[in-house]
Amino acid sequence: MSGIFIHRSSYVEPGSSIGDGTKIWHFCHVMDGAVIGRNCVLGQNVYIAANVRIGDGCRIQNNVSLFDGVTLEDDVFVGPSVVFTNVKRPRAYKRGKYEKTYVKRGATIGANATIVCGVTIGENSFVGAGSVVTKDVPDHTIVWGVPAKVQSYAWIRRELTNKGGEHGKEEKMDSKSGY
Ligand SMILES: CC(C)(COP(=O)(O)OP(=O)(O)OC[C@H]1O[C@@H](n2cnc3c(N)ncnc32)[C@H](O)[C@@H]1OP(=O)(O)O)[C@@H](O)C(=O)NCCC(=O)NCCS
Repeated sequence: MSGIFIHRSSYVEPGSSIGDGTKIWHFCHVMDGAVIGRNCVLGQNVYIAANVRIGDGCRIQNNVSLFDGVTLEDDVFVGPSVVFTNVKRPRAYKRGKYEKTYVKRGATIGANATIVCGVTIGENSFVGAGSVVTKDVPDHTIVWGVPAKVQSYAWIRRELTNKGGEHGKEEKMDSKSGY
């Protein structure tokens, strides 16, 4: 393991797996069994549950919890205070069934979006800030709103299409500047 940084305020359980070059900032909790890929950044106050799988090059901003059932492929951006869910119809008095949420490579989820569980967020897609996602987001599309709907803007189509084959390569983050 090389180049891994874990801030001393964070608790990373020994049975988790952290890829080379990954940085975990203040007050995070990574559970036993969680798998985080290489060169990821976890901002402040991020929680990663036991059965969560995170690919390489993901950036998870402050105040995000990834609950059991959530999978992120490579190069996924999760904005600050995004909310994932894993039970569709929760009740305090009975145990709900965990549903899966799958985020494909290169996708961005804007700040404060809520992802209702059981959906797939498509490759290189973009979820606008504050959206409530209730259905699958197709690859290479942008959605926003409550509930989130596919939007159509010429520049977005161009950007998403051009970026599709090479996401993660066009811009290098400054590793010294933290998250
Ligand atoms: C989705 C997004 C990329 C669109 O940006 P854009 O293409 O520059 O769009 P514009 O600002 O020109 O907005 C176009 C229209 O969509 C609306 N709109 C834009 N984003 C919206 C959103 N998230 N929810 C609802 N409506 C939105 C605008 O109000 C505008 O409406 P109008 O035409 O009636 O005036 C951007 O608004 C966004 O949500 N970015 C995410 C930011 C973020 O969360 N960053 C996290 C890290 S800091």
